[in-house]
Amino acid sequence: MSETIDQVEEQAKLKLDTLRTPEELASFRIAYLGKKGKLAALMEKIKTLPIEEKREFGGRVNQLKNYLEKSFEAKSELLHRVQKKPEFFDETLPAIYPRLGRLHPITQTIREISQIFERLGFDVVDGPEIETEYYNFTALNIPLDHPSRDAFDTFYTEGGQLLRSQTSTVQIRVMQTKKPPLRIIAPGRVYRPDTVDASHSFMFHQIEGLMVDDKTTFSDLKGVLHLFLRELFGSEVKIRFRPHFFPFTEPSVEVDLRWGSRGWLEILGAGSVDPNVFDAVGYNSKQVQGFAFGLGVERIAMLRHGIEDIRLFYENDIRFLRQF
Ligand code: DAH
Repeated sequence: MSETIDQVEEQAKLKLDTLRTPEELASFRIAYLGKKGKLAALMEKIKTLPIEEKREFGGRVNQLKNYLEKSFEAKSELLHRVQKKPEFFDETLPAIYPRLGRLHPITQTIREISQIFERLGFDVVDGPEIETEYYNFTALNIPLDHPSRDAFDTFYTEGGQLLRSQTSTVQIRVMQTKKPPLRIIAPGRVYRPDTVDASHSFMFHQIEGLMVDDKTTFSDLKGVLHLFLRELFGSEVKIRFRPHFFPFTEPSVEVDLRWGSRGWLEILGAGSVDPNVFDAVGYNSKQVQGFAFGLGVERIAMLRHGIEDIRLFYENDIRFLRQF
């Protein structure tokens, strides 16, 4: 019994979908498009039909033939493309790397500095950026009429709080919750209403340091800072301690770094913790002593990498950031 056009069409479509190998392709071609295939059988049938039916039947067979030839062609092309292996595959070629992020240069600098102090037994701690006048000024022995309390120098919130203008706040928070001996550093953001230019920003980063026990002296401070700066800038580094004033340390110094043709550059502030600060946190200032210091992270990163403009740190320009 011969098959109808519809039957052949339906079977052929189903079969086409299942073809996966060259062998399957070949047997499909023989079965449907070959000389003794199903299409050929339909063609043969045309001759046997009465004249009135020949035209319609012939037209439909032709349509099916065109359709099957095209579909078969498309299918075999597809299979060839999938199966074709690259002529030459060099597995020693480097892979295509995904684009990796990296740490911001400020974060890198903070981590490097933290690691140096961690090797000296300091713990890394942090504190809040929104603070009270007590932590930012009062407990740090900064008098009520000190200019840094002015709204020109500190951001105040409507609720009477402020954005800390120095990480020295963390000294107080740590001493309130821990008894000596202690050694901490506190990296973090600070805020000041400065006009932005190449060396100023309304937000920047500081690292505060504090060491307290019953026998730490000013010479320990000198030793620790000298060692720290040698680790960071190399063993040839030249530094000097210059007398200065800070309300929370007595005596106080600023430490300068010799920087080639630029001469001496101020790099950090430091000193022996003022007894008034110990009193404020409930330590017995007759029994404990220690030192504190504070440095600006941007300043150090700029010096080490030869960066001339502080704004580059905050612009998120990938061309700048990917250099570090
Ligand atoms: N807080 C000071 C500032 O922002 C830096 C500083 C100086 C911190 C001396 C200290 C210190 O702990 O002893 O300018």
